[in-house]
Amino acid sequence: MRISVIGSGYVGLVAAACLSELGHTVVCVDSDLEKIATLNSGGTLIHEDYLQELLSRHRHHKLTFSTSIEDAVRESLVIFIAVGTPCGLNGGADLSYVESVARAIAQSTNGYKVIVEKSTVPVYTNEWVRRAMVLNGSCAEEFDVVSNPEFLREGTAVTDFLYPDRIVVGANSERAARVLHQVYAPLIDGSYAQQASAVPRPECNRSTPLYIETSAQSAELIKHASNAFLAMKISFINAVADICESVGADIEEVIQGIGSDGRIGPGFLRAGIGFGGSCFPKDVSAFRSVAHEFGYEFRLLDEVNKINEEQRQRFIKKVRAALWTLKNKRVAALGLAFKDGTDDVRESPAIHIITSLLEEGCQVTAFDPAAMERARTILGDKITYAEDPYSAAKGADALLILTEWKEFANLDLSRLKELLSYPIVLDGRNLYSPEEMANAGLNYYSVGRAPREISRLTPAKSKLAKHAAGKNGSHKSLDH
Ligand code: UDX
Ligand code: UDX
Repeated sequence: MRISVIGSGYVGLVAAACLSELGHTVVCVDSDLEKIATLNSGGTLIHEDYLQELLSRHRHHKLTFSTSIEDAVRESLVIFIAVGTPCGLNGGADLSYVESVARAIAQSTNGYKVIVEKSTVPVYTNEWVRRAMVLNGSCAEEFDVVSNPEFLREGTAVTDFLYPDRIVVGANSERAARVLHQVYAPLIDGSYAQQASAVPRPECNRSTPLYIETSAQSAELIKHASNAFLAMKISFINAVADICESVGADIEEVIQGIGSDGRIGPGFLRAGIGFGGSCFPKDVSAFRSVAHEFGYEFRLLDEVNKINEEQRQRFIKKVRAALWTLKNKRVAALGLAFKDGTDDVRESPAIHIITSLLEEGCQVTAFDPAAMERARTILGDKITYAEDPYSAAKGADALLILTEWKEFANLDLSRLKELLSYPIVLDGRNLYSPEEMANAGLNYYSVGRAPREISRLTPAKSKLAKHAAGKNGSHKSLDH
């Protein structure tokens, strides 16, 4: 089938590469000339496993790159819209890019087209796209608008696309629903996975996805509700982690206890410094905003974002409790990306925390296996960029773990202790156990667990300790 994908960002580029891997002839369009030039000259733009292989396998054959929506639309039956839907005013989704693409498509149609929403959009966007198409000259009978939300996670985007739990197609027309079924046929019938050259299926992924056909409105809501629910699960466990700290319980034990209930499940119950990325923060706000528009005050989502914001502040208080004053303190930060496995720093909790520490006068030396260049575009030379975790730790007053990269969970702790000025580790992702840190002679502060101090830096179990642990974040109390 001839397909075009408008937008070569994380979702668009992965979708284009995977659709050509399924055997379709795909043209990926972007208004950013530089991006298209890079893609046409063999570049990848984003850090995703298997993406480079798929691009080299299909580039200039099944997959081409262009800046012309017009040409792409003319030669395609299906057009996926995967442009940005950033956070707009009042937290709602800014759909101006989607509208401008719909207008451009309308002015280029030359026969029946299926327009597919791949970007995350609020409910009813399919109606707005339809309206914009007709207003810009398209004949209402000559196209259909379908919602086909993408559930891929950065870091595992290619395998999430090729081996999804479910494919959701929201179409208000039988004709369009049949076309989308054909697009995904190699995944639905499992024939793709049988191919010798297929991208290997991760063990935890289904071999064939559930194929869910709904109305366009339901599909649009499925995406927002899915992201909001996952974000809520993270904020819920972070709230429980805070209670654990107050009552001396251990969040990792609690997670095991609640996560083993099949109705709850262990997924997305990792406590830490909160969620970030280009999706959860903006989609929670956009869902809150569209629900309000349709008369429902989704206050629960306010709490989800509020807990997420508080989680970062709590971590900074822990840094203060461990280091007392922060001015001119040297801090080593491991992690800049918003999560492991990606170079994406959009809404990164790590960068939020580093920015706050810089405002408090800290000197920060950071290391990240993939996101240094993208972080430099935000932090510039306000921090020092180390070549590995150990050179970051050298001479630092404390080490902070901010992103859950697997390599940060296997560091040489005794070497770290040697390099650090003070044996202090603050772990915002609970990558270690308090025991292994204590065995390495390191004072360890994590999330949802009591501080583990080898040399009692803060008085334990006394009112003062509570104060020191940042109940009110001020240190004055310690002096008198
Ligand atoms: C996008 C949406 O932002 C997100 O809501 C959705 O969940 C997934 O798709 P992402 O792929 O990460 O996310 O977006 P981004 O990386 O911003 O890429 C969008 C691309 O569209 C950019 O390359 C941009 O240049 C391109 N674009 C944008 C166009 O080609 N034309 C436009 O009019 C606007
Ligand atoms: C998310 C959704 O998972 C995906 O389905 C959707 O298409 C896009 O948004 P992504 O943003 O790439 O994907 O990352 P995800 O793995 O969901 O992590 C999001 C954030 O939550 C990260 O900052 C991560 O560190 C944090 N997180 C995730 C937790 O703090 N705890 C968890 O248990 C899981």
